[in-house]
Amino acid sequence: MRGKVRVCVWFLFLFGSCWGRFVVEKNSLKVTSPESLKGVYECAIGNFGIPQYGGTMVGFVAYPKANRKACKGFDEFGISFKSKPGGFPAFLLVDRGDCYFTTKAWNAQKAGAAAILVADNKQEPLITMDTPEEEGGRGDYLQKITIPSALISKSFGDSLKKAIEDGEMINVNLDWRESLPHPDDRVEYEFWTNSNDECGPKCNSQIQFVRTFKGAAQILEKKGYTQFTPHYITWYCPDVFVLSKQCKSQCINHGRYCAPDPEQDFSKGYDGRDVVIQNLRQVCFFKVANESKKPWLWWDYVTDFSIRCPMSEKRYTKECAEDVIKSLGIDLKKINDCIGLPEADEVNAVLKAEQDAQIGKNSRGDVTILPTLVINNRQYRGKLDKNAVLIALCAGFQETTEPAVCLSEDIQTNECLENNGGCWHDEAANVTACKDTFRGRVCECPIVKGVKFVGDGYTHCEGRCEINNGGCWKETRDGMAFSACVEYVAKGCKCPPGFRGDGVKSCEGKKASTEVSWSFLWVIFLGLVAAGVGAYAVYKYRIRSYMDSEIRAIMAQYMPLDNHGEEAPTNHIHHADI
Ligand SMILES: *[C@@H]1O[C@H](CO)[C@@H](O)[C@H](O)[C@H]1NC(C)=O
Ligand SMILES: *[C@@H]1O[C@H](CO)[C@@H](O)[C@H](O)[C@H]1NC(C)=O
Repeated sequence: MRGKVRVCVWFLFLFGSCWGRFVVEKNSLKVTSPESLKGVYECAIGNFGIPQYGGTMVGFVAYPKANRKACKGFDEFGISFKSKPGGFPAFLLVDRGDCYFTTKAWNAQKAGAAAILVADNKQEPLITMDTPEEEGGRGDYLQKITIPSALISKSFGDSLKKAIEDGEMINVNLDWRESLPHPDDRVEYEFWTNSNDECGPKCNSQIQFVRTFKGAAQILEKKGYTQFTPHYITWYCPDVFVLSKQCKSQCINHGRYCAPDPEQDFSKGYDGRDVVIQNLRQVCFFKVANESKKPWLWWDYVTDFSIRCPMSEKRYTKECAEDVIKSLGIDLKKINDCIGLPEADEVNAVLKAEQDAQIGKNSRGDVTILPTLVINNRQYRGKLDKNAVLIALCAGFQETTEPAVCLSEDIQTNECLENNGGCWHDEAANVTACKDTFRGRVCECPIVKGVKFVGDGYTHCEGRCEINNGGCWKETRDGMAFSACVEYVAKGCKCPPGFRGDGVKSCEGKKASTEVSWSFLWVIFLGLVAAGVGAYAVYKYRIRSYMDSEIRAIMAQYMPLDNHGEEAPTNHIHHADI
């Protein structure tokens, strides 16, 4: 099976197509109206645009009267989907076929759509919409696609179209909250990359991403919030070709580790083997830096190398790379030991481990596309952009364990500025339940001076009376505590029953009657019962959602094809660009 996967990957690189265990990242599209379509439908997130990991998006479905495949700009047809202020955003439904998925998304975005749904044109399992390999200089627009995209099945597409034809307004909700697992307070992620800097838009976007993401990545790593590992794909040369000119120029260690020629021209420029060696040097750099407890230096090395040693200036060399290593203070000898002898007919332990890691396991499929980002063992789909990736990483933390960088201004929405985002707040104490996060605003009772307020976060949060008794009168008489602080009343100081006064400085009154204290006890008792019932409900719910995610994880292992890998049909494709 393993051998097969590698041969397959080799063919992928020779012929551009192949089967593999490619996991299609799915999430749900919820139709909230009309009644006849109500339900949750599966869709596959595209490999471009920005999925809102951790968030949701609400809108209505629009199906254009013309240009239904969205292969042309909608302005030619005088059609626009821009929503008016306060209006619902449009999810543009278009048909698959005739042009790249990315072209459709770009046209939809230019016309003002908030998201694009591509209806498949045949009955088949959902695939991942990918970016085109060959877009040459026209690939610029790829970087500008920001709207999320999803492929839906033909039958669901047909139902949507029919409902629209019948004059129905279809309200939908695209939900990414469960798209990434968030098991604990540390996120593990991998970036599958390449040191080659001359492969067109894909290489450019890769290096651009490394440069812009470096700062955030290093903060997260230094503080122990993440464990990052870079990876490099290599292919091996099938035995029969080991002595061929192609394999010699593209491989090291006697055909064991190969990379495609950067210019796809064996006669000029750098060869595939140069790329493999630089890739190996980057893996070794990470290994040695990680052993010195400074794994984040990899980000510096890769950025510096791309700036100081580009192919275009003929500086993609060993000497240049070694200068960069030295300037970062990493032990060069250790790195060279790790690289070993590229000419030798022997296994290189580091590259062997990289090849093994290419093969998918659990929720992650085989890595066959470069670049690939894997977060908590799920392949990330969407644009390789600093904020988009940061949002996805942040969604990988269990709620409330996310680091400050996840709440940083860059990815905040500032919805709390106006009217506290509609959340509970206490004007007098200047506390609010509104929290601005990458998930959008959430209403969550705050922690103030170490006191955790409790409540629904919308209409009430209690805890004010525990901070300096809310600024109200308090006294102990005959071993009984009396307080004028009332949680529900803003700035509420109200003398307890039987007392009289302003409640702030004083409450004068008769001796407390035992009846009052009994009623207090009753309140406490009922409160405890309610809390117990609530806790049980939460417990049941947690158990259920845990079971759901377990079942989903198990299902994922059997989807979509691994079990039939050996005789996978040739048309078994899991991602495509058209
Ligand atoms: C990096 O180091 C940590 C411990 O310091 C280790 O757990 C991890 O496996 C190492 N990663 C690699 C790829 O060697
Ligand atoms: C309330 O608190 C925020 C920060 O916690 C502060 O910026 C603001 O000035 C405070 N407002 C008042 C009226 O004290």
